[in-house]
Amino acid sequence: MKTRITELLGIEHPIIQGGMHYVGFAELAAAVSNAGGLGVITGLTQRTPQLLANEIAKCRDMTDKPFGVNLTFLPTVSSPDYPGYVKAIVEGGVKVVETAGRNPVQVMPFLKDAGIKVIHKCTSVRHSLKAQEIGCDAVSVDGFECGGHPGEDDIPNMILLPRAADELDIPFVASGGMADARSLVASLAMGAEGMNMGTRFIATKEAPVHERVKQAIVAASELDTRLIMRSLRNTERVLNNAAVERLLLKEKELGAKLRFEDIMEEVAGVYPRVMTDGDMDAGAWSCGMVAGLIHDIPTCKELINRIMNEADALIRKRLLGLAAA
Ligand SMILES: Cc1cc2nc3c(=O)[nH]c(=O)nc-3n(C[C@H](O)[C@H](O)[C@H](O)COP(=O)(O)O)c2cc1C
Repeated sequence: MKTRITELLGIEHPIIQGGMHYVGFAELAAAVSNAGGLGVITGLTQRTPQLLANEIAKCRDMTDKPFGVNLTFLPTVSSPDYPGYVKAIVEGGVKVVETAGRNPVQVMPFLKDAGIKVIHKCTSVRHSLKAQEIGCDAVSVDGFECGGHPGEDDIPNMILLPRAADELDIPFVASGGMADARSLVASLAMGAEGMNMGTRFIATKEAPVHERVKQAIVAASELDTRLIMRSLRNTERVLNNAAVERLLLKEKELGAKLRFEDIMEEVAGVYPRVMTDGDMDAGAWSCGMVAGLIHDIPTCKELINRIMNEADALIRKRLLGLAAA
């Protein structure tokens, strides 16, 4: 399938794997890219720019296809060494960067000078327009359904995607709640040029996370995620567990008085314990409502081939069959 996104990124299928903390290592990024999508290494999971440079080199050894790096701009006081990470990306010859969080304007000149395509992931039409204005090549429009940080507007993709299509000139992919051929075809119908998946890619054979994480996603239904940190305006959609219930109780009791320090135990340093050690109740970890649509653990190639084959059948049989003669 050719779309503006496959052309822009030089990939075979319009499917991107979003950056995911402690999931987006070289193994997963290379598997997605080898399957014809765009795999993405999560920059900040690598604690230093040098470690990111090593991870990029490792990924390059595992695939000769294009892959990207995610650079998330955190709302933290002590900023990571972003110039160092950008240097590792540029010197590593990476051709695509997925930015997320704050506006990436500070790094744009360095990325553009190196000929890197920038896809900014954002949760609103106004932020998408801003990304277009500062020179991003594409946006990933992340609806309220998404795993991770859905922002504070709470607009689901059935509204957000057509709104983005009405306003944007640059291409965009649909993100949040995407799992299968139905997601892809619906997104294309709403004006997107492809889709970005997070949670779905965790439940794949190559995702380098503990088996219990994959099983938890397969076992979860669409009713099993919770929104945390709303009062801190840092909303995150996570899979419910004992730590999340404890956190929500604190949020309820403290109301507007809640400070980040009150929930440190449930959110700080959680990812390696969950993703690597499989300690499922260690704290709050991102997961999308799309867990309700995930019932198996295929390889990335099986998943992407299935999506593309079923999308083709959906368009040719069901949709063409419905069109008036
Ligand atoms: C476990 C997990 C960790 C994530 N970490 C990041 C991250 O570090 N940076 C980022 O930009 N997005 C992150 N995301 C968001 C994904 O890249 C993607 O936008 C989101 O998962 C899409 O929604 P979906 O899960 O419904 O597919 C994370 C998502 C998950 C599920």
